[in-house]
Amino acid sequence: MNRRRFLGIGASVLGAGALVAVAVPSAARLFAEGRPGRLLSSGLDLPEAFRVPLPVPAVLKPVRTEGTTDYYEITQQVARLEILPGVKTEAWTYGGSFPGPTVVTRSGRTTVVKHRNELPVPSVTHLHGGHTPADSDGYPVDLLLPVGSSADAAQGASGMAGMPGMPGMHHAAGRNVVGERSYTYPGKQRAATLWYHDHRMGFTGPGVWRGLAGFHLVQDDEEGALPLPRGERDLPLMIADRSFAADGSFSYPSSDPALGEPGVTAAYANGVLGDVILVNGAPWPRLDVDRLRYRLRLLNASNARLYRLELDPQPVGGDALVQIGSDGGLLAAPVAHDGIEIAPAERFDVVVDFSRYEPGTRVRLVNRFGSGRTAEVMCFDVSAKQVKDDSSVPDRLATVEDLSASAVVTTREFTFRRSRTDGWIINGEPYQPGQSIATPALGTVERWRFSSDLHHPVHVHLDHFQVIGRDGKDAGPYDAGWKDTVDLRPAEAVEVLVRFTDYAGAYMLHCHNLEHEDMAMMADFTVQ
Ligand code: C2O
Ligand code: CU
Repeated sequence: MNRRRFLGIGASVLGAGALVAVAVPSAARLFAEGRPGRLLSSGLDLPEAFRVPLPVPAVLKPVRTEGTTDYYEITQQVARLEILPGVKTEAWTYGGSFPGPTVVTRSGRTTVVKHRNELPVPSVTHLHGGHTPADSDGYPVDLLLPVGSSADAAQGASGMAGMPGMPGMHHAAGRNVVGERSYTYPGKQRAATLWYHDHRMGFTGPGVWRGLAGFHLVQDDEEGALPLPRGERDLPLMIADRSFAADGSFSYPSSDPALGEPGVTAAYANGVLGDVILVNGAPWPRLDVDRLRYRLRLLNASNARLYRLELDPQPVGGDALVQIGSDGGLLAAPVAHDGIEIAPAERFDVVVDFSRYEPGTRVRLVNRFGSGRTAEVMCFDVSAKQVKDDSSVPDRLATVEDLSASAVVTTREFTFRRSRTDGWIINGEPYQPGQSIATPALGTVERWRFSSDLHHPVHVHLDHFQVIGRDGKDAGPYDAGWKDTVDLRPAEAVEVLVRFTDYAGAYMLHCHNLEHEDMAMMADFTVQ
């Protein structure tokens, strides 16, 4: 974060879009609806929607398998991709593609992913939603330095190099390595849609924006026994907005374009919104579907953009999006929605039955929170083929333990706010690696109360949590199941129950608006 620049933000924090888009009488309502971020317009003509076929990221093959462990390798590398038709974009990738390859693992088996860094910058890889020992969790100063970096660079406190603006931070040295690092995921968790992404201190926003994100799906027997759509009808959909410069490169408003110093220019301090909506790395793609059920694993991999996703037209009778899973895997029972509000990093696993549409219908996935081009996401073209569906959505999906409020041993408060002088802060402090603000004990249930000034998608590492209420009332329609990210709305308090298991050590909670995250809205907690 650049403190000097931060001083100049003033009242622009809601972003221009939020201020002009709503002509509402009451300031309170504007505040309540104001979604974060400012639109960064691309410098080239945007392609027409619904031309590019939906890509599906390749599933990564293990390099070897031994007993209960599967080994994978990913090389982080620069790649020139054709994201917009006819335009080359230099991306930072996992394995040469954006999204990176999908890692599919089995609950109960250990997964070791060896990352090799051939990027021009250090990286840190975090498995978002992973139940991961601390030394493999992708702590933001545990850098993987590029191949060929000097050993000195690894030994120095280089986690903080180039961050002169962050008070106190230059004292914290990470566990740095040069070239390659293996992350171990013991797989002690249920089936769920996870994702992996860059988590480098101060530079997660530009890293993910340039392409460092991929899916990681955990499977298990409980889910495998269900008659849900599978194979080609089980689709991970990574939704991410991006902007492009006139030369085709990703456009991102870093305050220091050389990325020596973290943070974005003052105008974008509340979040960067792109004007191109990508799904699996393609702009406004289209997919031919049969009149059958499809499972869509929705992930919002945007830096700051919130979406309200709906199908248009809605099928007769509504309830088009039947939610079967949340961040942490299957719900106990399906929940039908007309629309799904999804904040950065959240996942919603839904089943859509396209037999509810007439053959030949074009069904658009739209974003009711967007306007103009950002109001559209992708489309499904429903075929006329005669087909028979062998899938269904059972009324009971999974056994889900409910954490009990009566088991709570400690209640903790976490406030998420903007500071005039220190960027985005939690409990009054900008992030300082190594300074823990909570020490939950393994195996105990705690109540964590998150409160906010503006929208903040709050993410907790290590274990999923359950949302039990908002502002003293019931949890909201998008809060069901095990979650690892929950969107706080302006001036709202959200209560969750957490219980950390298996691994002691230092973990983090933070805002997943990546511009807020990079500008210090993170905190450590230490599980004991
Ligand atoms: Cu998806 Cu700590 O991040
Ligand atoms: Cu935030």
